Amino acid sequence: MLAKGQVRVDGEVIFDAQHVVNAFSCINVAGAEIQNKQARYIMLNKPKGYVSATKDDIHPTVLELVNECYAHELHIAGRLDLNTTGLILLTNDSHWSESLTNADGGIIKKYLVTTKDPIDYEQYQRVFERGIYFKTENITTKPAKLIAINAYQCCLEITEGKYHQIKRMFGYFDNQVIELHRERIGQIELDAHLGFGDYRVITTDYMNLC
Ligand code: URA
Repeated sequence: MLAKGQVRVDGEVIFDAQHVVNAFSCINVAGAEIQNKQARYIMLNKPKGYVSATKDDIHPTVLELVNECYAHELHIAGRLDLNTTGLILLTNDSHWSESLTNADGGIIKKYLVTTKDPIDYEQYQRVFERGIYFKTENITTKPAKLIAINAYQCCLEITEGKYHQIKRMFGYFDNQVIELHRERIGQIELDAHLGFGDYRVITTDYMNLC
């Protein structure tokens, strides 16, 4: 079929059996379209009380906030706790989401953290840089960067996403996180115009930033 010129990829006749395609290539063989799926990327400002899952019996899910006919095809690239707010990325491109969530990928996630007690910046930064041992997982957190705002608010940049990671990091100092909001994943910053529960479709040009 290739030799006969019966295979088209993204509209172009392909003769080369080594030609690389991906999950979103439009493939037509002998006049029949055998694959044509569009890659979808959405940024959403997660409100409190929504669960980062595609299905849940108790709480509403972030997927329920997406009013698009393809919403059921989407999955979440990096979850947030029930009461954490901010940037959630949704996609049907698992190659891309895996590259974002891969623990070794080193993608920086930036959070705005509000605490119950004052933050001792010098002490916290020293410990966050060195890493905190999590007994349950038998791991030490990777170096994290603390950016001062005021006594009760800071930004924290981490490159991994262990269970309740930030709450546990502040818990090391017996300091409770009372508000947590994700502002950025890699180069993708939560759009300031998006209110809680709002979302917007993002383009593939934007995706290359990650
Ligand atoms: N760390 C947490 O503790 N919770 C989140 O939702 C994200 C990071």
